[in-house]
Parts: sequence; structure tokens; C-alpha cells
Amino acid sequence: MRTSGDDRHRRHRVARAALAGWMIAAFAGAAWAQPEKNPLPRLVSKDGRHALIVDGKPFLMLAAQSRNSSAWPAMLPKVWQAVEFLHANTLEVPIYWEQIEPQPGKFDFSLVNVLLEQARAHKVRLVLLWFATWKNGSNHYMPEWMKKDAQKYPNIIGRNGQPVDSPSPHTQAAMEADAKALAAVMGHLKKADPQHTVLMVQVQNEPGSWGSVRDYSPAAQKLFEGPVPAELLRPEVLKALARPVGAKGTWLEVFGDDADESFHAWSVARYIQHVAAAGKAAYPLPLYVNAALRDPLSNPRPSSYESGGPTDNVIPIWKAAAPDIDLLAPDIYLSGSERVLKVLELYDRPDNALFVPEIGSSAVNARYLYAVLAHGGIGFAPFGVDNSEEGPSGDAANEARLTPLAREYALAGPMMRELAQWGFEGKLKSAVEREDHAEQTIDLGAWQMVVSFGASRGRSVQANAEPVGKVLVAQLGESEFVVTGTLCRLTFRPVGASAGRAWQYLKVEEGGYENGVFKLLRIRNGDETDWGGPRFGAEPAVLRVTLVTR
Ligand code: DGJ
Repeated sequence: MRTSGDDRHRRHRVARAALAGWMIAAFAGAAWAQPEKNPLPRLVSKDGRHALIVDGKPFLMLAAQSRNSSAWPAMLPKVWQAVEFLHANTLEVPIYWEQIEPQPGKFDFSLVNVLLEQARAHKVRLVLLWFATWKNGSNHYMPEWMKKDAQKYPNIIGRNGQPVDSPSPHTQAAMEADAKALAAVMGHLKKADPQHTVLMVQVQNEPGSWGSVRDYSPAAQKLFEGPVPAELLRPEVLKALARPVGAKGTWLEVFGDDADESFHAWSVARYIQHVAAAGKAAYPLPLYVNAALRDPLSNPRPSSYESGGPTDNVIPIWKAAAPDIDLLAPDIYLSGSERVLKVLELYDRPDNALFVPEIGSSAVNARYLYAVLAHGGIGFAPFGVDNSEEGPSGDAANEARLTPLAREYALAGPMMRELAQWGFEGKLKSAVEREDHAEQTIDLGAWQMVVSFGASRGRSVQANAEPVGKVLVAQLGESEFVVTGTLCRLTFRPVGASAGRAWQYLKVEEGGYENGVFKLLRIRNGDETDWGGPRFGAEPAVLRVTLVTR
């Protein structure tokens, strides 16, 4: 068949148009598929586990928190000295409402800007702590113009009418002022921090009340005698709080003995939700609230701890009340491994990423870093690393306290992306030495790892004076593991189908991850793996261990 020139042109035009359309579609698709340039830090969850995504990938905050009054230019050199000593990649540091809003509606971000500049110069990320309505249960960081006006910005009143040093969560004026101020801070960060130096913001600091379980002011009492809000009566919330599904009525009717604390938790969380929502609307960084804990093992009464904050027993109330708070985080000042490990278990939930924003900086606490990682936690921070009240951060006692964690951070820093990814995929397990120093076993599918704690002396192990031993293991294949640890030794045994079979180390490689690649330092063999298995001294090391049965 002959085709005319016109036909050919028409067909070419049609083909060109189709091609152009396809190219536009393909281009648009590619543009959509490309990772967003410079995305905001965000939390993601999958299969009940969580990750903090920074620059497009899971990020592990090997963090440090300054003391409360250290976010001033004159104090910051000591803070950075401590951050460097620790090899921390993130600094948690307060920003103060009283300094930021010295007069109503007049904002001063000069200290925030200093923090941003100095953090960038030190190549460290920030978590900003919004010390505002609540700081450890009190209003001590409210601006002076609020402190002077107790009528407009009242504290709560105790059961017997006594004054309590804790702000009322039932005050619209304070709540609106806090919301406006946090929105201003977040709006400033949006402009001043395009490179996302700030990863997260803590809203308030350990909110709740010491000295009274709730507010007994007439206004609060009226609410307390009213109905429990519908958000708390949803079946899943009632079940999580061990209340009968279908319960309704007043706080006393629904919550019985726990009514006072439940009411206060709801009131504080609702207030903070309002503040957080305003902050998020200005700039949607991940937001969290930290908790002054209660003893997780003995179900104490709320008069003995800070009531109203996100303690483990009221987490479901906080989740229902404050959907703009991305996570609730435990501040760990309890001692004893049973207690501390229980806390980690309670705050690692399908609806809550585990983050330990404060833990006492004593040397024995470094071991809990591994337990947090094994929970897929997103970060860990000792409190008060600059130790500025007692002298320079370089003082010997402070350095001795921080040394075990500094060694861990130095080792983990270059492989924090791998650790964060493995945690997110549920591949990490740990054993931390308990006070009884007993041997522990970690189940690894076809293998068990048996860990004994102490310093190796040839064939024997000398018990650790304090429980400082620990091991962290990433399972990368059925018989392939990456292991780090201190002051312990390990051995393995095949279980399941291979139980009882002979086995040996195929290879034990010592090295470390750099830019996503394992770099070998040496192969451990002979005396370094015989006589009871590979061991770790006070300096942690990374071992890639492959096992084989015969
Ligand atoms: C917990 C608080 O969150 C910190 O700000 C600090 O006050 C420590 N307690 C104790 O120094």
C-alpha cells in the first residue's frame, strides 16, 4: 500500500506526541520516585518496630544531654568538650521559654541560633528540649511576666487546699501562650535550619506534678466530677488500661482508685497535645515527651512519684490524648538491671519507638546502650555530660564515668547506619551483665550464644567487680553474626536439628564498618578463639563470626 507524504507526517506527529506523552509520564514518575531532596527527619514504623529516618536512612542517636543551665554561650565550650570526648553524634540541649519570650509576643532566638551554628561546626545533630510550662513538674521556665501573674497562670491546688509548685493544666491562657511560643520556635527552625541539624524536639520536660496527685482547684474538681471523655472510652483504650469495655461515667466510676492520676494524666497530656499541635503545624519535626518514671516492678501509688506524666501505667491515656506526640520516652534514674530492663520493655511498643533521652552517666549504665539497641531503640543519652557544676568536663572523675560509653560511641559511630537498620529489622539481640554476674544465653535460631562475664585471664575468667559486661549480636545469616561486647567471653552451641553436632568457627574476623563496608583488621584464631571462645576486654571490638557444624 502506498502512503502519501501527508499520512507519513501525520503518523510521525502522532508517534512524536505519544513519545512526548510517554516521556512526560516517565519523567514525572521518575521525579516522584526520586527521594525527596533534603527530607525532614521522621519516624517510621513497620512490623511493630521503628526507625528515625534522617537524610533518607535509619539513624541512631548516640547522644548526650547537657546540664540544665548549659545552653548559654559561656557554658557551651564545656558541653562541646564533653560531646567530643564521648564521640556523640547528637546533643540534647534545652531551650528556655523564659529567655525566648522575655516579653509577651517578643521572641528572641539568639540562643537557638548559637546552638544551630555551633552544632553544625561540630558536625553534631541536635535534639532541642522545650523547657516551658513544665520542667520537672514545675513552672520554673515560664517567662517572668507569667510567673508574676499567678491569677492568670495559676498552679494546681493540693487535696487540702495547700499550694503546690506545679502549673495547672486547666489554664487556657498558659496553654495558648505555650502553644504560640512553641509555634514561633518551630517556625523559626523551619527558616533557620534547612539542613535539619535539629532532629527532634522534646515538648516540656518531665511534665506532671510532685506533691499532689492532681489539681483539686474548684475548676479542676468540676471537670473531675464530669464524664470521662469519649477518647478514653474506646474499647482498645479501656482494654489497655485494664478497665471493662463499655465502662463510662465520671472519672471515679471509670477509673476507681486510679481516678486522680488518670484525670491528671489526661489533663496534662491534653494541654501538651494542644502545644504540640501548634508546633507541628508550624514545622512537623518528630516531637516527644519524657517521663519521670515510677518503679516498674512494684505498682507504687502515684503520691510517691511524679503524677500525670507518661509513666508506664498511663501510656494508653497519653496516646489517646496526645496524637501529635510521636513518642513517650523514659528518663532512667532507677538502678538495678531488672528494673531498667523492665522499663525498656514497657516503652518499646508497636505504638511507641524506644528512645532513652536521659540516663544517669555512671559507668555501669553504658551496658544499657546494648539493651536499647536490641529493642530497636532510636537513641540513648547520658544526662549532664558537661558536669559544669563540679568543674571542667575534662575532670578525671567525669571522664572516668563517661569512658565506657565513649568507647562504645567511638566504635558504633562509623557503623550507626548499620546498627539502626539492623535494629529496625529486628536483627539485634543483647545480654547485659546482671548484678548476680550469672552466665546468659541468647537464642539465635540454629544456634545459642552463651555469654560469661568477666575479664579473661588466659583460660580463666576473672569476675567483674561491677556488672559492666555486655554483648550485642546482629544475626545476618543462619550461622553468621556481627558481635560487639566488653568484659565477657562467648561460645556457641548448635540447637534444633543440629543439636549435639560438632562445630567450629569457620572464621572470626575483627574489624569495623566504614561507609557501609566491613574493614578487616585481623582474623582472630588460635589463642584468640580457643580456650573458651572469643573474648572482649574493656575496649569493645567488632567481630564478624561465622560458624559451621561438622
Ligand atoms: C531529670 C530531668 O529531666 C533533668 O532535666 C534533670 O533535672 C535531671 N532529672 C536531674 O538532674
